[in-house]
Amino acid sequence: MLKISVINGPNLNMLGMREVGYYGTFTLDDINAEVSSAAKDAGVEIETFQSNSEGDLVTYIQKRRGSMNGIIINPGAYTHTSIAIRDALLAVEIPFVEVHISNVYAREEFRRKSYLSDKAIGVISGFGKDGYIFALKGLLTRLNLDETAVC
Ligand code: DQA
Repeated sequence: MLKISVINGPNLNMLGMREVGYYGTFTLDDINAEVSSAAKDAGVEIETFQSNSEGDLVTYIQKRRGSMNGIIINPGAYTHTSIAIRDALLAVEIPFVEVHISNVYAREEFRRKSYLSDKAIGVISGFGKDGYIFALKGLLTRLNLDETAVC
């Protein structure tokens, strides 16, 4: 059975109360429940993780080497700053999809820079919580088609 990690970075534990104009009123639990349900339908195992700490995110990713087939990651603000998270994703050689709830290209200039996008299978931005479901579908399509992408 394919195993996928769904990783959320800083401040995404505040969804539901945080800048609802950008992020809506759904919570991280709502996202994880929807992704888990879609994964169950697809016969895939999901593990969810959220941290506000860059180091904890790096350590979590490092420990997934060899045990996960894919990663769906919304790194929050670390998208725009973290070489460490980029390096961790490259070190574990697990294919990943980058997700953003808001359309980062329609916001401040600094949100247009991502340290992950050029290494991601794909990037989804601006579709709210549906972005995680789209990411799961895209990742599964890629994993099922491309055996070299499966660890
Ligand atoms: C975000 C966009 C980031 O720029 C921001 O720092 C976040 C959330 C999004 O999901 O739209 O925390 O990744």
